[in-house]
Amino acid sequence: MIETSFIPSNLKTDSVEEGIISWRSPSNIALVKYWGKIEPQIPKNPSISFTLTNCFTKTTLKYRKKKKESSTFEFAVFFEGNRMPAFEAKIKKFMERIVAYQPFLLAYDFEIHTENSFPHSSGIASSASGMSALALCLMSLEQRIDPSIDTIQFNKKASFLARLGSGSAARSIEGPLVVWGLHEQVKGSNDLYGIQYPFKVHEVFMDYQDTVLLVDKGVKQVSSTLGHGLMENHPYSSARFDQAHAHLSQLIQVLETGDLDNFIRIVEKEALALHAMMMTSDPYFILMRPNTLEIIERIWRFRKETGSKLCFTLDAGANVHLLFPKKEKESVNRFLTEEILEFCQNKHFISDEAGSGAVKLDDVS
Ligand code: DP6
Repeated sequence: MIETSFIPSNLKTDSVEEGIISWRSPSNIALVKYWGKIEPQIPKNPSISFTLTNCFTKTTLKYRKKKKESSTFEFAVFFEGNRMPAFEAKIKKFMERIVAYQPFLLAYDFEIHTENSFPHSSGIASSASGMSALALCLMSLEQRIDPSIDTIQFNKKASFLARLGSGSAARSIEGPLVVWGLHEQVKGSNDLYGIQYPFKVHEVFMDYQDTVLLVDKGVKQVSSTLGHGLMENHPYSSARFDQAHAHLSQLIQVLETGDLDNFIRIVEKEALALHAMMMTSDPYFILMRPNTLEIIERIWRFRKETGSKLCFTLDAGANVHLLFPKKEKESVNRFLTEEILEFCQNKHFISDEAGSGAVKLDDVS
């Protein structure tokens, strides 16, 4: 599918005056990481993630037809009830990027109300859940204008729009596993939008657990967007992109058979490869903290001593995601309390698990 197929023809807004739409959209955690992109948010390699359940953004979009159509975007953003001009530049940029695909954005005044289920500045990136929730609200408005849009087209375009807000947001529409970025073995995969993982998945992965350990809630020194940019001219970039392709190929078998030893090997290698790219870029930087390493060592020791299938992954920060099968929940929780929590800020963690994607909430037309 090419980008022009997302440009609607002849959308008539006449019958849609005003209304409210709400969506709840989850965060996701990548197993094979997206790190490196070109304009407009085209990934340098394919990625795959678990869609989460408990870490989500809830967004409510209020729209009202402008008295007179103008060439400016009219909107206000509210975060947890308070007007947030600081978020508005990012949303404006997003609207500028997507207006070719949703020309009706210029026909309405909007209020965007948003809140996260996870605490503000927890170090959990809200861009995936936030951008996907907004993209879904805008798709619902498009569907009110053009009711012929079916679910398949709806999800595709929601992911396509979300991607233009934040790359990883393309993977938050459906679940429990989503692939984004062209991979020769994954049927239907492409760089424009995420697709539900199309192959057989062993039941162990359907409710895989992700406990997010909040190691450092501080503001990141280097944003993801900047980090992606440093993959340009990176000495190891082409080897890294090849590695991501190879890891996704290997995961196909692992996801089908439930081979957890190889799952652990691939997922941990991906996390460390991501951070190795950061440490070897120019300028170089380190997002892990001493406690990140302490936790990783303790996970490895725990695995060795108990035979547990607990493993870790990292995103672009110091937090550690503990990934494990649901049947290990009790023993991992004990390990968490006894050996890990002291290394988290204020002993803070969030229990999450793989889920089925975004949910539309009650709405009023
Ligand atoms: C390390 O999606 O946050 O979490 O596209 O610039 O918004 P932008 O970046 P973003 O990058 C996420 C990077 C990552 C890996 C991943 O989620 O695949």
